[in-house]
Amino acid sequence: MQRSTQTVIQGAVGAAVLAFAFGAQAASIKISCSGVGQELEFCKGAAEAWAKKTGNEIQIVTPPNDASERLALYQQVLSAGSDKIDVLQVDVVWPGLLGNHLLDLKPFTKGVEKEHFAGFIANNTNNNRLVAMPWFANAGLLFYRKDLLQKYGQKVPDTWDELGASAKKIQDGERAAGNDKMWGYVWQGRAYEGLTCDALEWVASFGGGSIVEDNGKVSIKNPNASKALQTAASWVGGISPTAVLNYAEEEARGVFQAGNAVYMRNWPYAWSLAQNDDSVIKGKVGVATLPKGGAGGRNAATLGGESLAVSKYSKHAAEAADLVMYMTSAAVQKDRAIRGSFNPTLGSLYKDPEVVKANPFMGELYGTFTSAVGRPTTVTGARYNQVSNQFWNAAHEVLSGKAKPDEALGRLEESLTRLSRGGKWN
Ligand code: GLC
Repeated sequence: MQRSTQTVIQGAVGAAVLAFAFGAQAASIKISCSGVGQELEFCKGAAEAWAKKTGNEIQIVTPPNDASERLALYQQVLSAGSDKIDVLQVDVVWPGLLGNHLLDLKPFTKGVEKEHFAGFIANNTNNNRLVAMPWFANAGLLFYRKDLLQKYGQKVPDTWDELGASAKKIQDGERAAGNDKMWGYVWQGRAYEGLTCDALEWVASFGGGSIVEDNGKVSIKNPNASKALQTAASWVGGISPTAVLNYAEEEARGVFQAGNAVYMRNWPYAWSLAQNDDSVIKGKVGVATLPKGGAGGRNAATLGGESLAVSKYSKHAAEAADLVMYMTSAAVQKDRAIRGSFNPTLGSLYKDPEVVKANPFMGELYGTFTSAVGRPTTVTGARYNQVSNQFWNAAHEVLSGKAKPDEALGRLEESLTRLSRGGKWN
């Protein structure tokens, strides 16, 4: 696993010349954003626009795409008190883990946080300090090939069983017609934070709870959760390639984007890429909520999303905070939504005709975003990453056939209960 930091210096020279000419001291801000899909390109574009506007400099630090590897890198940099990164892209599940190392942004917001989703702001508030500004929201979605569903007379599946049957029918049909690369369903099965997101969706959709409940009780050992994992395991090597056990977001999208999958679970960013002019699936893709677990089940999407934060160890805190406020502003979020299908964190943009025209699902599936299932971060606090790590490992064991769901979840429940110190956690 590569944990090295690749640094690209952009636009520094021009800004430095400008600053020199006017006698001002330009700050050089190192910003770290993820590179999933078009994320890096969009991050760089907006950061450079800010640098040009303010006469400062920007250096883009590219961390690993894998969320869990990115967290490890941040923990290493921040716990060393290093100023190697000034502005960090922070996952919705990290404010509790990294909050102590992040600057309180309240003095810089001019009250604009009131316009963002209240839940997101609460999530980013740590001991009364606003440690990150919301940047984009995520919820797990089902992407499907409209053309193939129509060709095989299939409706968008309502339950996982329906998805399984539909995926198999179309996969078999397309293979018989000559596309031996066709798969029914691709998703995130690698042992990392992304699998926690997918597996929580399965469990919640079967009514199996959310691993640790709000009152601190570990709830993962239950028949519905077992059924959920059993269902997902039955896809591997059938409608999903065995390689899915090592897929993150981009590997799944690669297969779907090449036209070789009927269904895909992914985040909203995949929409705009599918709709690109050079995309072989342009105009052939539909977006729906993920299926229910069956009778008594529900549609469940895991809540994801990203914020921007300033490191407490930055030597240019004021400029770094100014960059964060610019990048998370309505104008930049609107542009990102229209051109990159990144869901805004400002409620008003969901009523913006240009945003909804470019991304019909943002309007149609608005309820999916507002009712998405949160991972148990608040209750587990500083131990969230250990909880998630144990959960994704248990799910991975079941998916790869190394353990039966009841055994894996039984062991997980015992281990999490020990970690919870009798359900008290903090
Ligand atoms: C996306 C989501 C984030 C999640 C990650 C998992 O980046 O925004 O919340 O943890 O995917 O891979």
